[in-house]
Amino acid sequence: MQSDSIMRTVLVALGVCLVCSIMVASAAVSLSALQAENKKLDKLKNILQAGDLYTENMEIEKVYNEKVQAAIVDLKKGQVVEIDQLPEELQPANFDIRKVSSNPQYSTAIDPKTDPAQVKRVPQYMPIYLVKENNETQKVILPIHGKGLWSTLYGFIALERDLQTIAGLTYYEHAETPGLGGEVDNPRWKAQWKGKQAFDDSGDILITVIKGIVDKAKPSASYQIDGLAGATITTRGIDATLKFWLGERGYGPYLKKLAEEINNG
Ligand SMILES: Cc1cc2nc3c(=O)[nH]c(=O)nc-3n(C[C@H](O)[C@H](O)[C@H](O)COP(=O)(O)O)c2cc1C
Repeated sequence: MQSDSIMRTVLVALGVCLVCSIMVASAAVSLSALQAENKKLDKLKNILQAGDLYTENMEIEKVYNEKVQAAIVDLKKGQVVEIDQLPEELQPANFDIRKVSSNPQYSTAIDPKTDPAQVKRVPQYMPIYLVKENNETQKVILPIHGKGLWSTLYGFIALERDLQTIAGLTYYEHAETPGLGGEVDNPRWKAQWKGKQAFDDSGDILITVIKGIVDKAKPSASYQIDGLAGATITTRGIDATLKFWLGERGYGPYLKKLAEEINNG
């Protein structure tokens, strides 16, 4: 075969493609375990961040294991379920919110007319994360998800021991536009959540993500969060997400039971 023949050129090109695809495929396979580990670690980091327990360069897994206890809650009953009564896929370490929410065995459809956060299906069970000190609950960290503009945003909201004050909020997964809806990741925006009131004394939900900037001089500032500039749809989605998950169809029944437990010592 001539060195500049078409056949030779095609064969060389095919050979290069084959070698490259083998390299890419092997890299993807060998890195997938590392990616899964990093994803898990990122989730733990977000749990700690929501709970205001995270500091730069800390050993995330160690601190998580020392401070946080995961449990599974039956949302309707508002009760923690004994782990050994649950199948493998519902154990906290294996719990995949997407899978559980889309499985008709474990979830029910929500009427779209009453679902502004487009949660779509409410799972029977959800994981929750308790921060305990001397066996006393100090904080509870709750997974949340709901639709923004382009994507479903997955995150955590944490409440202090009074179950009224917010300790923090983080999102660990979304595909909103950087600089617009993606500003949910901006540390300055996230910092506002700490200390805001999620509920009033009678248990009604107060927390509201408004359109625009919160007027700090008004008493309502204690339960309002600045909207994301140029991203009203994401802003509305976050507001609706919180109202859903903190309400009766979300963690409401569990938070009532937990408040009784905490108050009764
Ligand atoms: C390329 C592009 C990306 C956008 N990304 C977002 C977004 O992530 N979240 C959002 O709420 N709005 C986003 N918007 C804007 C919405 O289309 C809509 O105009 C906006 O939510 C209205 O908000 P405003 O009333 O604050 O301007 C985007 C618009 C464009 C053109």
